[in-house]
Amino acid sequence: MIYPITAYGDPVLKEPAQDIPQDFPELKELVDDMFATMYHAHGVGLAAPQISKGIRLFVIDSEPMMDDEDKGKGVKKAFINPEIVEEDGEEWGFEEGCLSIPGVREVVYRPERIVIRYFDEEWNEHEDTYDGMTARVIQHEYDHIEGILFTDYLSGLKKRLIKNKLSKISKGEVDADYKMSFPSMTKKR
Ligand code: NI
Repeated sequence: MIYPITAYGDPVLKEPAQDIPQDFPELKELVDDMFATMYHAHGVGLAAPQISKGIRLFVIDSEPMMDDEDKGKGVKKAFINPEIVEEDGEEWGFEEGCLSIPGVREVVYRPERIVIRYFDEEWNEHEDTYDGMTARVIQHEYDHIEGILFTDYLSGLKKRLIKNKLSKISKGEVDADYKMSFPSMTKKR
């Protein structure tokens, strides 16, 4: 199934997510649905809070971000209960976007390399090193499960410049080519 993507302004995007217990029902199906939702929206990463689930899970497929010399080196993977255990290398800037914040793109600086420990869908534990664009996609999605959005890194000036856009997104005044769910729709009456 394709989930609607939770828009900027929903509190679930600002809360640290919870660890997933090993008896979590239908985890594989959820992972499949998250990949389907991500591809449907032409994203390269999707974190569970972006479908309003406050759990430590994200999926990525960094292949579309690979430049010509790195074609085929993209990573398609689900990360369950991940922990970034090391982050180093030179910080580099790249213009990021987010499926929860359509139409907003800003340069974010992140360290070059990460070491991440996580479980796969079979509950095998892994510790992998990633760098470059794949590391960046992982860092962006990892932030989501920590309740951090890329807009949180912007300077005060940049934040003021996009304030109106963000407030429009949270009110549903946005044109995305995928289904979204807006805070105003879930508000209790
Ligand atoms: Ni995002």
